[in-house]
Amino acid sequence: MRTDVLVVGGGGREHALVSGVKRSAGIGRVFCAPGNAGIGRDATLVPIQADDLKGLADFAEREDIGLTVVGPEAPLVAGIADVFRGRGLTVFGPSCDGALLEGSKAFAKEVMACAGIPTAGAAAFTDYRSARAYLEESGAPVVVKADGLAAGKGVTVALTIDQADAALRECLLDRRFGDAGRTVLLEEYLMGEELSLLAIVSDDWVLPLAAAQDYKRIFDGDKGPNTGGMGCYSPVPSVRPHLYDEIADLAIRRTIEELTRRGTSFRGVLYAGVILTQSGPKVLEFNCRFGDPETQVLIPRLRSDLLEILLAAARGEELPAAAEWMPGPCVGVVMASGGYPASSSSGDVIQGVEAASALEGVEVFHSGTARNQEGELVTAGGRVLTVSAVGASFAEARKRAYSGVGLISFDGAQNRTDIGHRAQTAEEIRS
Ligand code: AMP
Ligand code: GLY
Repeated sequence: MRTDVLVVGGGGREHALVSGVKRSAGIGRVFCAPGNAGIGRDATLVPIQADDLKGLADFAEREDIGLTVVGPEAPLVAGIADVFRGRGLTVFGPSCDGALLEGSKAFAKEVMACAGIPTAGAAAFTDYRSARAYLEESGAPVVVKADGLAAGKGVTVALTIDQADAALRECLLDRRFGDAGRTVLLEEYLMGEELSLLAIVSDDWVLPLAAAQDYKRIFDGDKGPNTGGMGCYSPVPSVRPHLYDEIADLAIRRTIEELTRRGTSFRGVLYAGVILTQSGPKVLEFNCRFGDPETQVLIPRLRSDLLEILLAAARGEELPAAAEWMPGPCVGVVMASGGYPASSSSGDVIQGVEAASALEGVEVFHSGTARNQEGELVTAGGRVLTVSAVGASFAEARKRAYSGVGLISFDGAQNRTDIGHRAQTAEEIRS
């Protein structure tokens, strides 16, 4: 029997999920709500926003959708999976008590403490004066984090006390993030290479995916402000199999065991942001969903049947012990609009996407794109496209991805030129 799928969300991650499930032999109709202009070429767009939980469940019921896959965190934290399961609908994504791992950084710290998971030391505050007093003691650098969801803007890596103080004031006095910043964490600053480890979880079964590395800063050489992610690659050559197993065990399995002890079932993605410090791997944060742009480099390499895995997890059934991957790497370069990340520019005409997609090994995923009245493809957000490419080596994957980027143009376009560069250098040293 074929399965009709609804993907919830409208970014590059959701485009990659649509592309992934469409490769499965068992796929039926594919819908995406609300999707974007690029996704509209691969799936039927449904004009329902990702935060309209009831509207989405009504649609899934009416269309007899066999599997709903939730992309973004906000609907998960708001309880979309609970609404769907309550109505007997099959959904990939944790219930709101599992999604709290991302919805509250203080909760995630508490779970990590109980489970003995290494993480940065932190203290939580709700009033400015005590936070300020603690800051005087701890000094800088220090990391200031809004407890709740702040659309990726709630973290300040403060190199001075003044920067940290400004971030504290924004959260606790000016209420920049509303209730999401009512509690603030002051966290120990950690140094080391960052890593994203995503795992598919089906209650007691854990299927870790290949490691990926995300580039958070806007400019080459990790300069400039943080963004949602300017590019990514997978796998990560510096993470040898024993280290990978160690991280999967301490970051993912221990967390799931701790949730199980608390009676919380988790069916979805558990994504650990990890930093490889000199004293071993430490968990920076959890997300309860696929990463963006991680998904755009994981799915092109995946050989296992994505739909089968997502369905098994959504039903709480056994998962395979490991996924199958193409042997070569994938490199994904994000193209962002002018002004990003402080602002973004909309309505700029995009050219060259088809030519780029026609290159060998290249797939272009749409994040913020739309059609204007003339039917032209235009920018509609900060991150616009991810140009992903697989290859036999990092050198080949990077060459292909950047050839794709070179064929695409729009006013104000920005992209990093060093995505995957470290991995390519490591590869060249080894060979
Ligand atoms: P998060 O949303 O918690 O992943 O934080 C966003 C980014 O801020 C991370 O990807 C890191 O680059 C940086 N960051 C967060 N926490 C720390 C920390 N304790 N030490 C150093 N950098 C951090
Ligand atoms: N790549 C960062 C995120 O998905 O949160």
